[in-house]
Amino acid sequence: MREKIDELLKRVEEFSPRTAAELEEFRIRILGRKGELNGIMEEFKSVAPEMKRELGQSINKLKNRAQERFNELKNAVETAGDITAERSGNDLTRPGTAQPIGSRHPISLVRREICGIFERLGYTIAEGPEVEDDWHVFSALNFPPEHPARDMQDTFFIEKNPDILLRTHTSSIQVRTMQTQKPPIRVVCPGRVFRNEAISYRAHCIFHQIEGLYIDEHVSFADMKQSLLYFVREFFGPDTKIRLRPSYFPFTEPSAEMDISCNLCGGKGCNVCKHTGWLEIMGCGMVDPNVLEACGIDSNKYSGFAFGMGVERCSMLKYGVKDLRMYFENDIRFLHQFDTVI
Ligand code: PHE
Repeated sequence: MREKIDELLKRVEEFSPRTAAELEEFRIRILGRKGELNGIMEEFKSVAPEMKRELGQSINKLKNRAQERFNELKNAVETAGDITAERSGNDLTRPGTAQPIGSRHPISLVRREICGIFERLGYTIAEGPEVEDDWHVFSALNFPPEHPARDMQDTFFIEKNPDILLRTHTSSIQVRTMQTQKPPIRVVCPGRVFRNEAISYRAHCIFHQIEGLYIDEHVSFADMKQSLLYFVREFFGPDTKIRLRPSYFPFTEPSAEMDISCNLCGGKGCNVCKHTGWLEIMGCGMVDPNVLEACGIDSNKYSGFAFGMGVERCSMLKYGVKDLRMYFENDIRFLHQFDTVI
């Protein structure tokens, strides 16, 4: 037993690790739960009573010294990591290993592309807060007080009276823009929006929107149609057709839902377009005069159009992604597929 203690103490004193890994190995082998020190303690239990006192003291000394030595070495390895690496024969001038660079998330790619198309048409990008008040999300946009979107089932409220909530659309940015800028106004508003929906392959409680607003004198529905046609041809391909169906939004009058010809089956009918040949991609319409007035713009002088689309939806159609949840899971196998898209 005595020899064992002395021998271990000698090894502890002489040990000089070159790397943090070697030191860790040393710690496990000697100080660890199943390490040599605990082995000695175990043996100590069966030592003759008259030897206990003397051997016990030596074991204690060894234990303290081993712990102390470990702490000293730890500091040394940490502060002089590079020097020890050099001593151990590592060539510090050797070229490093290349770190693979990540890729852009498909949502970022699509957002950039859509914003880029509108920027080329003279639009600027506007952003705004995700936590909003009732006025910017609903009241200024002509939502009547009893509108269902103001219900807890559709909207995440943070506070009630006064109502503070997570924006359900980026139209709130358009309100903020109208309040602070004078026409002509041309903005696209990208951002995250929140709706109290059950998560499934086609719906999520967080998603991304890009909405647009164009206000000037004599802006007509025909201007809107032509701008949107230009956009879809740029984004989905030059042969894309559009159709506008009458719809309703509190903030636009008249309002429409815009469909594009299905780019997967070429309009013949497939599962994605539910055999109609058409895909719904955005809501749009002429800004309601009530909205212009609420934001301090003279509705007798100015008119404008607005539109809004989901980035996930555009990305699904463009890249053939079948499940919306993929965008939020960050599975590397999914994300790597966008490596080559710049
Ligand atoms: N704000 C609408 C939405 O969230 C989209 C939209 C924007 C519709 C502008 C018409 C005009 O669905």
